[in-house]
Amino acid sequence: MDAFIRALSKIELHLHIEGSLEPELMFELARRNRVAIPFASADEVRAAYEFSNLQTFLDIYYQGANVLIEEQDFFDLCWAYLLRCRQDNVLHTEIFFDPQTHTDRGIKFDTVINGLQRALERGRSELGISSSLIMCFLRHLDEESAFSTLQQALPHRDKIVAVGLDSAEAGNPPKKFQRVFEAALEAGFLSVAHAGEEGPASYIRDAISLLKVSRIDHGVRCVEDPDLVQQLIDTRMPLTVCPLSNIKLRVFDDMGQHNLVDLLRRGLCVTVNSDDPAYFGGYMTDNFLALAEAHAMTHSEIAQFSLNAIEASFTSSERKHQLVASVEEYLSQQSKSTCRR
Ligand code: ADE
Ligand code: ZN
Repeated sequence: MDAFIRALSKIELHLHIEGSLEPELMFELARRNRVAIPFASADEVRAAYEFSNLQTFLDIYYQGANVLIEEQDFFDLCWAYLLRCRQDNVLHTEIFFDPQTHTDRGIKFDTVINGLQRALERGRSELGISSSLIMCFLRHLDEESAFSTLQQALPHRDKIVAVGLDSAEAGNPPKKFQRVFEAALEAGFLSVAHAGEEGPASYIRDAISLLKVSRIDHGVRCVEDPDLVQQLIDTRMPLTVCPLSNIKLRVFDDMGQHNLVDLLRRGLCVTVNSDDPAYFGGYMTDNFLALAEAHAMTHSEIAQFSLNAIEASFTSSERKHQLVASVEEYLSQQSKSTCRR
């Protein structure tokens, strides 16, 4: 099963680029930019990654982002992630970035997006990895700050496919950002939102009805509302689920308790993603492996996560056809070799 997972074509729809900052690169950037960090070594940084909930993670995560200063830093961060994509056979990725984490420290919006964009272009031409950017609003900040961020994004409309909503969920409901999302949709962006990770199932309902999202990020608490689950099934509303993240942030006690495989079997359009891989112990392949170790699945069930992600992605229909063909050819090759055994 490990070999099957490693070689499977994967599509990532829930990855915070700031969450892919490995401790080694954090140290390198801290040195380059003369930023003080409260750790003596990369191992010490890793040892500090013990979280009891979303907020304890966010506190460390925002601190880590302080080493990102120059356009080249954002390039290096994104390029390192794309090299991991190649290793994990991720063929398409839709990447979150949090401009406010940087603009609030005096870094220009253009510095952030130009560095990311340059890496993505190189990823397309040198690695054959297709990609797009999703700009997230930090939900612990106010509506005015989100509006100002949207304004700064408008000249880069062609580089950003959608807006999203992340950071501290509980107490920051979708309604708080309804008007910003209306303006973003009006400007031609698609929308997604984190909901039902730590917040209640009603936040998933509100993200769909008020923010008009095309996907829900996480969404695992939908099971608390059976009518909502039926709605998600009927409408094929995608959930971008992050198994290792959910264990690290204690949304579930252990992988055996995770509801992702159950949701897949109930017909939801669920996908597997890594969220903040440098903090949660693994990239895409690691997430698939951890899930498969705790839940027996067939090859076609595992491949269904990739097919769901293709269906849920914001890429062109031409690229979707290529990606589906890649997954289906692999599946049929595998079933032939299983039959021969
Ligand atoms: N920002 C980065 N990772 C996040 C997560 N899992 N939930 C909310 N905001 C985030
Ligand atoms: Zn996330």
